[in-house]
Formats: sequence, C-alpha cells, structure tokens
Amino acid sequence: MKIESLKGTLLFWVLVPLAAVVAVNLWTSYLNARGTADLVTDRTLEASVRSIAEYTSVEQGMIAAQIPPSALEMFNTGHGDHVYYRVESDDGRLLAGYADVPVPKDRGPQSQPIAYQHDFRSQPMRLIAMEYPVVGAGPAVSVLVVVGVTLKAHNAMLLNIWLTAAIQQFVLLVIAGGMIGTGLTRGLAPLLRLRDAVLRRDDSDMKPFSESTQSELRPLIAALNNYMLRVHEQMEAQRRFIANAAHQLKTPLALLATQAAFAQRAGADRDREEALSALQANTMMTARLVSQLLVLSRAEPRSGARRSGRTDMVETARAVLDDFAATALKSSIELGFEEGGTPIVVPGDPVLLREMLVNLIDNALRYTPAGGSVTVSIAAEEGLCRIVIVDDGPGIPPEEQTRVFERFYRIPGSGGDGSGLGLAIVREIVETAGGTVTLAEGANGRGLAVDIRLPLAEL
Ligand SMILES: Nc1ncnc2c1ncn2[C@@H]1O[C@H](COP(=O)(O)OP(=O)(O)OP(=O)(O)O)[C@@H](O)[C@H]1O
Ligand SMILES: [Mg+2]
Repeated sequence: MKIESLKGTLLFWVLVPLAAVVAVNLWTSYLNARGTADLVTDRTLEASVRSIAEYTSVEQGMIAAQIPPSALEMFNTGHGDHVYYRVESDDGRLLAGYADVPVPKDRGPQSQPIAYQHDFRSQPMRLIAMEYPVVGAGPAVSVLVVVGVTLKAHNAMLLNIWLTAAIQQFVLLVIAGGMIGTGLTRGLAPLLRLRDAVLRRDDSDMKPFSESTQSELRPLIAALNNYMLRVHEQMEAQRRFIANAAHQLKTPLALLATQAAFAQRAGADRDREEALSALQANTMMTARLVSQLLVLSRAEPRSGARRSGRTDMVETARAVLDDFAATALKSSIELGFEEGGTPIVVPGDPVLLREMLVNLIDNALRYTPAGGSVTVSIAAEEGLCRIVIVDDGPGIPPEEQTRVFERFYRIPGSGGDGSGLGLAIVREIVETAGGTVTLAEGANGRGLAVDIRLPLAEL
C-alpha cells in the first residue's frame, strides 16, 4: 500500500493496529458486560425462587404454594419485563404458575439453582430452577420452583455497561490519535522546514544547509549538500569554459575584422589578394576552433553523449590518415600506419573517436619538423584496443605532460595557431569511451608517444 504523505503512512501504521486492539477490547468488554448482566439477573431470579420456595408449606396434608408479592416485585425495574413462574410438586403436580414454563432437563441436587436461557411465548428468557425441601414435610418431600424473566432489563444493563466501556475506549482512541497527530507534526516539522528552506533558496545560493538537526535527517542533508557541491562545481566549470571560449573567439574575430578592413583599403590587387587569403586562413582557423568547442561540449562525460554506437578504429584511423596524407607530404613527414589487418571495434561514438585521432595526428604533424616521421599503430591487446601515435618531434617535457590536457593550455612558445583544445578534447573523448590516455617519450628518447587504451566492444 502506498500513501503519498509520510504523516499519512505513519498515522496509518499507528492507528490501524490501535483500532484492531480497540476492536478486540470492545469484544472482550461486551463479553464482560454480558457476564455481569447475567450474574445480576441470576441473583435476582435466585432470590425470587428462594422466597417462593420458602412460602410453600404443608396444609392439611397437601403441599400448598403461595407467591409472596415481593418475589415478583423485585423484577419491577421499569423496563416492562414479564415474569413467569412454575411451582411443581415432585410428583409433577402444578401448584402455582404456568404449566408450560420450560424446566431444565436435569433437575440437579436439592437447593442448587440451575440457570438457563430459553424462549418462552416467543420471547427469550432467562430462568432459574431449584429443587427445594418443603418446610415441615420431611426431607424427602420437595418442590420444583422455576422463575423466568424476559431480557429487557438484562439487555439494558448489558448495553449500559458495554456502552460505558466503548465510550471510554473511543475517547482514548481520539486522544491517542490527537496526540500522535501532534507528535507527528512536531516530529516532521524539521523536514518541512528543510523543504521550505530548499524552496526559498536562490538559484545561485550554493551554501550548504546546516546539518545541526535530528540524526535521521543528517544523512539527507549531507547528501543534498554533496549534490549541491557537485552541481556547483559543474556550473563553475561550465562558466569557466564559456568565459574561456568567448575569450578565445574574441582574438580571431578581431583579427578577421582587421583583415577585412585591410582588404577593403588595399589599393593594389596583389595586396588585396594577400589580405583576403590571410582572412580566409583565419576564418578557417576560427571555424575549427568553433567546431572543437562543439566537440568538447558533446564529449563532456556528463553530457547526454554516452557510449553509444560501435566504431572500427582500424578503418577510422585509415580514413583519417588518408585525409592527412597531403599535409604530411607537404611538410615532408613520413606518415606510417601499423595494423593487424583485422577490424578492432570499440564501443563509442564514431564522430567523436574520429575527432580524437584527428587531434592527435594533427598535433604530431604540426609539431614535428620537416623530415620527421609519425607512426600510428593499432592493436588489440589484453582485451583492450591500444592505439599509439609516435612522432620524433620536440616531445613534451614531463612537467608539462599534465597541463597540456587542460583546456586552452598551450606550451609557451608553441608554434602554429592552435587554441590549446586538442588534447583536452582527446582526454574527454577517451574518458567518455571508458579508456585511458598517457603521454611518454617517443622512440630513442625523442619525440612524443601518445598511448590510448579503449575497452573492446562486445562481439
Ligand atoms: N606531438 C606533439 N609534440 C610536441 N608538443 C606537442 C604535441 N602535441 C601537443 N603538444 C603541445 O601540447 C600543447 C597542447 O596541445 P593541444 O593539441 O591541446 O593544443 P594545440 O595543438 O596548441 O591547439 P589545438 O589542438 O586546439 O589547435 C600544444 O600547444 C603543444 O605545445
Ligand atoms: Mg593540437
């Protein structure tokens, strides 16, 4: 069973068992009340029987019964009950009363009252029968006296006793419910205060909530604070990223404006030609920066681009190397590819994984001087896809090897017109794909080796 409110759930689990207890209690108090009413009725019946029995006597050798008025008056309780009696000699002769008043099957020993319940003239009745020795007639002579009374007074008494108990219990239940309700309201107040505090919070206010409260709430507040901290860090990272991106875009855009103005003013065709080709190169660089920023926001480990899709790294690398063939040729760099001839499939977005290779091969070609060599090798090793890109350029000194992965970081004095995003993009993509990337020295202690390990796709 699902109840929306915590208070409702608690009340349910307290009040339902309590109501069950009360129900059982009402039943037992009904039985008690009936026992009491039976007892009182029986006592009165017994007194009546005894007083009738005591008035039987022997007159002129015959047993005679008399009914003293007090024997019937004691039933006069104002409830309009009917009293019936039957006095019988032990040879079965009716001495007084009604011959059809029911008698018990077994008469029992003398002077022992027998109580029983029986319908008489279609009304339920309670009766007492008693065998009684007749005064002055010797011990062997006895009479049977039966007195029965309808149950109006009996039932009224039962109801009265039972209702009193029921009302007491109902009052107790109401008081208990009220007290539990108050207790719950007070107990849940800190939770509601926390809710209000969270609702009132300004979006930019990331101060942790106070943990000085009930021990049960502390873990919740700690979790909330922890969550806010992570969101805060995420927001800060995004804010920095946007600020950096805007800053990085400002320079090439300003340059574009300058180059455009220069081209406009240029008198000679040759000057204009030169200005326009510079403008075109700068435009392409800016466009690359923008596309890199887009890739970065796509590869963000927490963004929606999870490890979807499958990519054959061998085929992807071959395509990327084809694209770079002309560049390598232009800078007289030997571009090599080593692979086993079989596809190596990893889980991950093909566009992002391609972008990863593009950035690494672009770096290797860009920072390796003319005449150098760049080798890309791909192999499946120990259940991983291992990609190594080695060049024999200047390499990256160990103290810079962590920083180069930061966004917009370039080693001071690096030539060319990069924006320092390439390796940051590589790391984001590799981590999104569940792999690792490390930097090391290239062969013969020269150049750079970028070592990437990615999990293999399931077959
Ligand atoms: N193969 C390499 N050999 C030597 N230095 C490298 C190599 N790859 C990267 N670096 C150094 O690491 C720095 C960061 O590289 P990264 O690719 O992140 O940025 P970038 O190449 O400067 O710009 P972008 O790739 O965004 O156009 C570079 O500025 C460069 O100094
Ligand atoms: Mg680069």
